[in-house]
Amino acid sequence: MSETTFPEKNLSRRDVLKIAWAFLGGVALLETAGVFISYLQPRLAEGEFGSIITAGLVDEFPPNSVTHITNGRLYIVRLGDGGFVSIYHRCTHLGCTVPWDQTAQKFICPCHNSQFDQQGLVENPPAPRPLDMFPVIIENGEVKVDTGTILQRNHTKLHR
Ligand code: FES
Repeated sequence: MSETTFPEKNLSRRDVLKIAWAFLGGVALLETAGVFISYLQPRLAEGEFGSIITAGLVDEFPPNSVTHITNGRLYIVRLGDGGFVSIYHRCTHLGCTVPWDQTAQKFICPCHNSQFDQQGLVENPPAPRPLDMFPVIIENGEVKVDTGTILQRNHTKLHR
């Protein structure tokens, strides 16, 4: 079988294929390097939902208070005994944002009137389960919340 040549540059068909394969190999190598470099970048900027959020200093949350941390999509509930609970502001019925009603001392969903007590337990359906929670970390006098870990509660049990 005779080999076709390209007279202007004296390239054989085999040479052209080698160049094409080398080019495609280079492109694949660059794409792989790009994926690897982006993998090494931090996934989430600190302070964004899905990362660890610093809610504030411990002393900024008085006992028996509920504070909305909007960038974390959560509430910090400081209990009467000084403990902290972090509650996801997303309704467990259909996902509306649930505001805290200071007068009624409960969370009342504006969409279908589900109501939750200060710790997010269902007082009035249709919400099928309590509001979800996040782990709270107290570190160097600061209240931090791991919004990358959503803790689902089914009545009294916690489910990860
Ligand atoms: S979305 Fe909250 S009660 Fe339906």
